[in-house]
Amino acid sequence: MQRWVTTLTSMSDTNTEVSSAYPPSAEFAENANATEELYRTAEADRLAFWAEQANRLSWATPFTEVLDWSEAPFAKWFADGKLNVSYNCVDRHVEAGNGDRVAIHWVGEPVDDARTITYAELKDEVSRAANALTELGLVSGDRVAIYMPMVPEAIVAMLACARLGVMHSVVFAGYSASALRARIDDAEAKLVITTDGQYRRGKAVSLKTAVDEAVAGQGTVEHVVVVRRTGIDIEWSDGRDVWWHDVVDAASEDHTPAAFDAEHPLFLLYTSGTTGKPKGIVHTSGGYLTQTSYTHYNVFDIKPETDVYWCTADIGWVTGHTYLVYGPLSNGATQVVYEGTPASPTEHRHFEIIEKYGVTIYYTAPTLIRTFMKLGRQIPAEHDLSSLRLLGSVGEPINPEAWRWYRTVFGADSTPIVDTWWQTETGSIMISPLPGVTDTKPGSAMTPLPGISAKIVDDDGNQLEPGTGHGEQVSGYLVLDKPWPSMLRGIWGDPDRFKETYWSRFAEQGWYFAGDGARYGSDGEIWVLGRIDDVMNVSGHRISTAEVESALVGHSGVAEAAVVGASDDTTGQAICAFVILKARFADEDRDDMVNELRKQVATEISPIARPREIHVVPELPKTRSGKIMRRLLRDVAEGRELGDTSTLLDPSVFEAIRASK
Ligand code: WTA
Repeated sequence: MQRWVTTLTSMSDTNTEVSSAYPPSAEFAENANATEELYRTAEADRLAFWAEQANRLSWATPFTEVLDWSEAPFAKWFADGKLNVSYNCVDRHVEAGNGDRVAIHWVGEPVDDARTITYAELKDEVSRAANALTELGLVSGDRVAIYMPMVPEAIVAMLACARLGVMHSVVFAGYSASALRARIDDAEAKLVITTDGQYRRGKAVSLKTAVDEAVAGQGTVEHVVVVRRTGIDIEWSDGRDVWWHDVVDAASEDHTPAAFDAEHPLFLLYTSGTTGKPKGIVHTSGGYLTQTSYTHYNVFDIKPETDVYWCTADIGWVTGHTYLVYGPLSNGATQVVYEGTPASPTEHRHFEIIEKYGVTIYYTAPTLIRTFMKLGRQIPAEHDLSSLRLLGSVGEPINPEAWRWYRTVFGADSTPIVDTWWQTETGSIMISPLPGVTDTKPGSAMTPLPGISAKIVDDDGNQLEPGTGHGEQVSGYLVLDKPWPSMLRGIWGDPDRFKETYWSRFAEQGWYFAGDGARYGSDGEIWVLGRIDDVMNVSGHRISTAEVESALVGHSGVAEAAVVGASDDTTGQAICAFVILKARFADEDRDDMVNELRKQVATEISPIARPREIHVVPELPKTRSGKIMRRLLRDVAEGRELGDTSTLLDPSVFEAIRASK
């Protein structure tokens, strides 16, 4: 047995296809929420299947129509139905007699800082917050920016918005003031909800200051609601700023949720595209919640009475929206929400939490698994992880070696792993194993979920042959060829960009192009290879090359910049920048300059976008038409032989670039 595992590992990640698969144990399969039957039902009548899934929710007005695709690519799902998303996530569990069930085991970054919130308590708090927001003048259709660390009030704020039909736009608290400002402006947000500060590796640091900077002179924000988290000193703008504890604690806990159309917008979430301007992805209510709830229930095999589920994502990303807020809460699950980083105060923290709360389902990103892997088995070995029964992965391709390590070390070599492929735009999981059904292959997200249709096609839209198997690694474009309930409904304020970005590559066929390359394995399963556009994936965070380039050229010393994502053992990809300095900066100390530029990107966007390397070069490789050849820069950054350079204007630039590396 041991030898077999070693052989697989040493085959490493270059030829990912191995014949062996990991079937679920008989016991897991027997008790699983999802069986083969789910595929058959969906196959038999896709729309009837989705209607059935939608009816897992509680509707104030039942829908009669499932899908209206007549104005493609603008979909309408369950359009004549009405529901309240917040009611579905909170009230109905209390009404069903589960008010005493723990909704959230909240774990603060400072050790011993913890709160337990039942569904009944959550209902009261969300109702109070909804009343407070109404008092502050918010009405259905307004936008609220939420810029908060992982405190319970962040979840309460999201649910309070949903309850009022107000759209939330959560902005990751690691983003800078200028990134926040751009998102507030684009959404024309009326309100910002934030905290005084946040904990970063044991230290309280300010957060409100960034909001002050972002809203200074800004025309749409009327109020800033501040949750007291750290107690640090902050500036206060009378009339504009209000304390959460003043307005929410004083509000009534009675609030009757109104029912909204299924297509009423639920939230906006900004994500990077191929240009410098982030896109506000729009999601609506009924379809989003249907697929979110369905996938959470079936992919994570949720047993609300017994499971303790933990998704480690931040609410600033889509995974936090779907699998930390709307998925688990719509299913009445009990979950852990952790405020801090995995290494705070020590690398034992995640394992301690799993042990203490008896976490049964753990959902995280490959980059974290690889970080744990580097630290070695000793740390997890000191903890009892036997409560775990299912593991999940999301955000980037998981290399088979990390997959096996995850299963062996976290999962006692017996838990199923669900490698889930999806995007901000898809709203919820699209391609993933069903843990009680699928024989999984390490590194593959396997097949589309029941009800979902995806294909890998060539340039002309011809489907690649499934089962080309070993060695012959033909790759193509991953497309979604049928609409799905939680699909994005557009880009905020920019219908043309929506069509152009997602629907123009295969316009003739009417397919959605995801931006990912993929190939089929020997059993027809899907291996996602990663982005093929100018979007980088750093530790599972999407960052566009154009965004970083524009931050770099924003510095007075930079004449031109080109950015590429180069592969990185831990973070998947790392940001490598090549810059040309203006002549008058040529004599500056290089190291100082590079440090300054890295800082510039951190302040313009976020520390997560800070380049790993910045090379000052005399020239950039360009085609005759003036396009920067990123492919060649990637070759340089990854230390490879150069690919085809025949279209280069001046092939000798590489000598100069190499010399400066
Ligand atoms: C990548 C995160 C391979 C992919 C939910 C996609 C993955 C982008 C996987 C979306 C996976 C996500 N295997 N690649 N299991 N999951 N990706 O919008 O490139 O932050 O297009 O959504 O992450 O990133 P986003």
